[in-house]
Amino acid sequence: MPQIQKYPAGWRVLHWVMALMVLTLIPVGLWMASRAEADIRGALTNTLYSVHNAVGFTVLLLIIVRIIVKIRVKAPPYPESMPRTLQMAARSVHHLIYLLLVLTPLFGWAGVTAFPALAIVGDLELPRMPFIEQDKELASRLFYIHGWLAITLGVLIAGHITAALRHLLRKDGVFQRMF
Ligand code: HEM
Repeated sequence: MPQIQKYPAGWRVLHWVMALMVLTLIPVGLWMASRAEADIRGALTNTLYSVHNAVGFTVLLLIIVRIIVKIRVKAPPYPESMPRTLQMAARSVHHLIYLLLVLTPLFGWAGVTAFPALAIVGDLELPRMPFIEQDKELASRLFYIHGWLAITLGVLIAGHITAALRHLLRKDGVFQRMF
């Protein structure tokens, strides 16, 4: 395997923690939304919503940290063997994932503010998003956009995982940079 330069340890930890969170958020989001659509209420549905909202809001906070890290710390270079066009394609997909990791939770948070459904557990509540009125119709439009952003994010992440696994099988050092 070629000599490889890894991402800094903190960056790698942030990557895998957020990956785990997003890969939990998507199925939990689909599950709870389908239960709500079928009018299945109760403790399980409420717990799914609470977990989803709390983890989703944490993703929003962590992506801010991650963007700051990305601006301040230079990513290690790709191996020379990787074609330039592939490097550019990889960078573009990564930037799109970053963008969706900002927009998706922002629309979710705006939706729960408009609904309003900010409770997490007991007396613990998410903060209200500034400038968003309480309005059920607005909430349903925001949730609609949130859902489509999340599905688009899921598709991009599936492509990202496929590419990462191809690098792992080829042993070209790209996967090891983030491992
Ligand atoms: C990266 C972060 C997030 C991802 C990947 C994500 C993913 C999803 C997905 C896949 C759905 C199902 C959509 C559908 O079937 O229509 C969903 C629904 C929902 N999400 Fe998120 N979500 C994220 C962040 C958030 C945040 C931060 C909040 C609120 C604080 C939130 C609140 C909701 C709510 C309330 C629904 C249900 C909407 C409805 O019942 O129509 N999400 N999410």
